[in-house]
Amino acid sequence: MKVVHTIQELRAQLRGQLRTAFVPTMGNLHEGHLSLMRLAADHGDPVVASIFVNRLQFGPNEDFDRYPRTLEDDISKLEKEGVYVLFAPDEREMYPVPQEYRVSPPQDLGDILEGEFRPGFFIGVATVVMKLFQCVQPQVSVFGKKDYQQLMIIRRMCGQFSIPTEIIPAETIREPDGLAMSSRNRYLSPEERQESVWLSRTLHEVAKRIRDGQASCSLSVDDVADIESAALQVLNQRGWKTDYVAVRRRTDLKLPAAQDLQSPGELVVLAASKLGATRLIDNLEI
Ligand code: PAF
Repeated sequence: MKVVHTIQELRAQLRGQLRTAFVPTMGNLHEGHLSLMRLAADHGDPVVASIFVNRLQFGPNEDFDRYPRTLEDDISKLEKEGVYVLFAPDEREMYPVPQEYRVSPPQDLGDILEGEFRPGFFIGVATVVMKLFQCVQPQVSVFGKKDYQQLMIIRRMCGQFSIPTEIIPAETIREPDGLAMSSRNRYLSPEERQESVWLSRTLHEVAKRIRDGQASCSLSVDDVADIESAALQVLNQRGWKTDYVAVRRRTDLKLPAAQDLQSPGELVVLAASKLGATRLIDNLEI
């Protein structure tokens, strides 16, 4: 695997490639990321990964400085996966002058859920992904469903800017007890790690109650609101600080109207909650 740090070296490596498959990451790679690399290899060749901890998507009180940086370890994992090029720019390479041009997702998608609790987050994500796409110029790119809203925002961005990159969604990879894999899981203490299973457990309970309501053709918009607030209470009573548990339409993350509730396969439940100092997100398609 070639490890390149500049856009010029990257372009030289990729010249003439017609089916580049790209996986952007912020490093500290775990099995979830490696599954994205494998899916990328199914859809294109060569596979290019990037590792860049993007300051623009961190709020002032978030974990940019302590975000785990494990480049050597990441390189050996990517080598084992047969990745062709790793693009690992530093901040001066990605942002040689202050990034004054930004990509701003529409408010009804970018300022809800994660965007409500992390103002500016999706502007930072969309801006760096746009920039990485200009550097790599991939034909396909893989994004995990773990970051459901991010996946949707990037997909729409490609559509609206006519970016010739097909976005491939990847299923969330979980620990055996159900916890969605995330670089931030390593912040959890052993006790928090045990407790953390309650996030996916709660999402499963929400999904079950929604499905039961659908099965008896009796699910109303008010029932959904009750199910969401019961789930939020379960977590908070266990000591979590929950930002949201939200049942939304899969297609646009809008609140489901009565007619969206009856057909299976239309909904997703998303949650974000803090356990101690660690904020976890997860979701489940219903
Ligand atoms: O999902 C991530 O790791 C990041 O948001 C991404 C897409 C690499 C942009 O920095």
